[in-house]
Amino acid sequence: MHCTKKVTSDLTWVGANDRRLAMFEGVYSVLDGVSYNSYLLCDEKTVLFDTVDKAVQQRFLENIAEVLGGRKLDYLVVQHMEPDHSAALWHLTTRYPEMQIVCNAKTLAFIKQFNDFDIDSRVHIVKENDTLNTGQHTLQFIMAPMVHWPEVMVTYDATDKILFSADAFGCFGALNGALFADEVDFAKDYMDEARRYYSNIVGKYGTQVKALLKKASAIPINMICPLHGFVWRKNISDFVAKYLLWSDYAPEEYGVMIAYASVYGNTENAAEILASRLRDNGIKTVMFDASVTPASEIVSAAFKWSHLVFASTTYNAGIFVTMEALIHDLTAHNIQNRTVAVIENGSWAATSGGLIREKLGKCRNINILENTISIKSALKTSQLAEIEAMADAITATFPQAAVAGSSGAAPAANAVESATMFKLSYGLFVLTAKEGEKDNGCITNTAAQITTSPLRLTVAVNKANFTHDMIVHTGEFNISILAESAPFRIFQQFGFCSGRDSDKFADCGYTARAANGIRYVPEHTNGVIAAKVTESFDYGTHTLFVADITQAFVLSGEPSATYQYYFNHIKPKPQAPKEQKKGFVCKICGYVYEGDALPGDFICPLCKHGAEDFEPM
Ligand code: FEO
Repeated sequence: MHCTKKVTSDLTWVGANDRRLAMFEGVYSVLDGVSYNSYLLCDEKTVLFDTVDKAVQQRFLENIAEVLGGRKLDYLVVQHMEPDHSAALWHLTTRYPEMQIVCNAKTLAFIKQFNDFDIDSRVHIVKENDTLNTGQHTLQFIMAPMVHWPEVMVTYDATDKILFSADAFGCFGALNGALFADEVDFAKDYMDEARRYYSNIVGKYGTQVKALLKKASAIPINMICPLHGFVWRKNISDFVAKYLLWSDYAPEEYGVMIAYASVYGNTENAAEILASRLRDNGIKTVMFDASVTPASEIVSAAFKWSHLVFASTTYNAGIFVTMEALIHDLTAHNIQNRTVAVIENGSWAATSGGLIREKLGKCRNINILENTISIKSALKTSQLAEIEAMADAITATFPQAAVAGSSGAAPAANAVESATMFKLSYGLFVLTAKEGEKDNGCITNTAAQITTSPLRLTVAVNKANFTHDMIVHTGEFNISILAESAPFRIFQQFGFCSGRDSDKFADCGYTARAANGIRYVPEHTNGVIAAKVTESFDYGTHTLFVADITQAFVLSGEPSATYQYYFNHIKPKPQAPKEQKKGFVCKICGYVYEGDALPGDFICPLCKHGAEDFEPM
């Protein structure tokens, strides 16, 4: 008995549902079934859009016969040749011998690969933007290669502004009486399955999906009729917005998806503790056992969440089998733009962490955190600090508004949070000058190239620095670029005393000078730039010098030290005071001000930073 649904007055859904299918495409479990959509337009000509899977073709043939009501079928538009949409093609040619098959050249080749009947005599080849008039309706064909297969095209009914979208905008799950997405609570009950469908079926082809979305954005669309799932006639832009995110590989939500593979529960234990610490930090978490949850669900979750943690035991000297399959699936589906952390376990030779990092490291824009936790058999109390550190490192990469407990409110339009300035990335340099016989230098982070032709840079120098005055008087300076090996003593040597009353080069053990006669620092630096001032600008506390570069040479291949690197690796960590005193510590140089209250106008005597850069001890 037929079972059809009206889409519009002359368009009818003639597809069918399958709830007995265990694995869609042999790999994706579909516990809620799947629909195979086909649409029949009864205009002056009759047009069928695609067919169905062989499992449901009997019902499908009954549906067509009912809707046609004795009319002949004029056209079958084949938008996608994958057999779940083309299995009934041969049956249709025998039932409707006058039927023309409308498809593109690539589709024709695929029809011939899958079938062995005369097609050339009944084929009508179309290409990009070709149209077919059926009476009241004009159908326009738009190519959508790799929105799942290379032959895919979509069809635009310019009369009713309906996009027949092939695999795009589809969803797993049988239609349970409802045809339109607005008849159900799609966001609550179906969005997860729509994401699982997208990420697993076309997730790999984000670029091609974006190309289709771009074409679709140029035409008015009142309705979308996909080959699986619901028809969209309301809130279309909401679903399109999801497609824009997914095709960009942009996360939908800030939070951490933790997937683990554990043989005897010890790796799972570490993952559980990490999740607990993350929740303590106000971070959303979801967890999957890769040996239990189908990979398609974890891939889908990876497309949803911003951060991914993989915890795996080592197995046969590699990644545990289910985790290896998951990592392979994720890389095959082109996962990108995520922050990742890794936990490995191995009773004698842990390799899984390194291998996971290596595989994910090949994906685009994956930020793999340095904190890998390596467990020997089972987590020990001594490693809880490592879990805490990983949770904190992950949390540090979240925007404040995504952390529970923070206000989450948009900052006021005129808010200026001084801590934001520490997010800027700077290098660190020794700025040197010479006036008469006096050599001097100071630490700066403000040198920056501004033009290449002429080769020119700027440096902003605090007027309180003796080096500032020397540059004003002489118009020349050198910049020694500090490398990561720079010890704290160099910062003490040039940053924590004044050249007015000391010789900063005394006892340094080197005498190097650039061609301009000004000293530079030849150790723990990777390059030197000599410059001549062309202009200077007064900015209150600082002078901005604009200078032409007169000489520049490389000293080593060592990475340059950044401001952040200095804080993380060079600046000594504050020591706990033997007896607790009240006071404030300078975040820049570590100077300690003892007292109950820090004066608002206090200036650090060592590094010259103000009270805003002090924090309570
Ligand atoms: Fe449902 Fe790519 O086919």
